[in-house]
Amino acid sequence: MFVDDLRDTFLSRRNYLSDIVFELTDVHYSYLGKYPALCGVDMTILSGEKIALIGANGTGKSTLLHLLDALIFPDQGHVTAFGERLREHSLADEKAAHRFRGRVGLVFQNADIQLFCPSVREDIAFGPLQLGVDEEEVEGRIQLVAEVLNIEHLLERVPHQLSIGEKRRVAIASVLAIDPDVYLFDEPTAGLDPLTVRHIIDFIVNAHQRGKTIITATHELNIIKEIADTVYLFGQNKRIAKCGSSESVLSDTLSLEMNNLIHSRSLTARQPSLSFSCLR
Ligand SMILES: Nc1ncnc2c1ncn2[C@@H]1O[C@H](COP(=O)(O)OP(=O)(O)OP(=O)(O)O)[C@@H](O)[C@H]1O
Ligand SMILES: [Mg+2]
Repeated sequence: MFVDDLRDTFLSRRNYLSDIVFELTDVHYSYLGKYPALCGVDMTILSGEKIALIGANGTGKSTLLHLLDALIFPDQGHVTAFGERLREHSLADEKAAHRFRGRVGLVFQNADIQLFCPSVREDIAFGPLQLGVDEEEVEGRIQLVAEVLNIEHLLERVPHQLSIGEKRRVAIASVLAIDPDVYLFDEPTAGLDPLTVRHIIDFIVNAHQRGKTIITATHELNIIKEIADTVYLFGQNKRIAKCGSSESVLSDTLSLEMNNLIHSRSLTARQPSLSFSCLR
């Protein structure tokens, strides 16, 4: 298959990255058994890779990240993480769950899902405390991640009263406090001001330089060359339409246009004329 060939060629160029972190084989997932979200996805993600997932709304990017974070499990096919198949019952074991949660961290598309404690400080402390890190060490981590993400002044604030950009930084801090091997970011820069976007990109680049595996779902094509070496493009059929280096995927304007990621014509020109006579 075209995508597999491309991927094989690409992987052979990257065989210095040896460890497979995630392997997805023919993964299907539907919500409530009737709303398809992924329809046959194959992927191999290696340790130390920096990956972007792109695709129009509803093509399954967030669903894929939730599968990689073992929040949901495939209806068909399977997901392997660090050599072990991800199944609901295997994570029911507390030790296995702690081991996995210490290695993989997801920053949600909607930070409100992630932040639920009465203060920012407690939200950041929550993950490491759950994983059994002692309180003194957790305090040190809070100070460190607050400094890295420039949120020291927010530590005593109520998370739900923060702005969207502030919440996003706190959500990243709460994952950084765990410092997993794999960071999953779901639209980390959407709707943020340029300086905050810059901070988040720098954070991703820095984490990658520290050897982390980074997988980011994004609509923002202009940040991809910095945050990813490899790009997976998801199509309306909720499968991978294209995969390759950032340069090759971003330069394939036909694929990007066909998959609703760029437009050559303005929205006004494409829009049929509307009549509101029915409302009069
Ligand atoms: N909780 C849910 N219940 C029912 N259907 C859902 C649910 N979450 C997602 N879906 C459906 O699954 C499909 C994939 O959604 P998903 O959120 O993974 O897409 P996405 O690529 O992340 O989109 P976006 O770019 O808008 O964030 C969509 O058709 C969506 O309607
Ligand atoms: Mg999404």
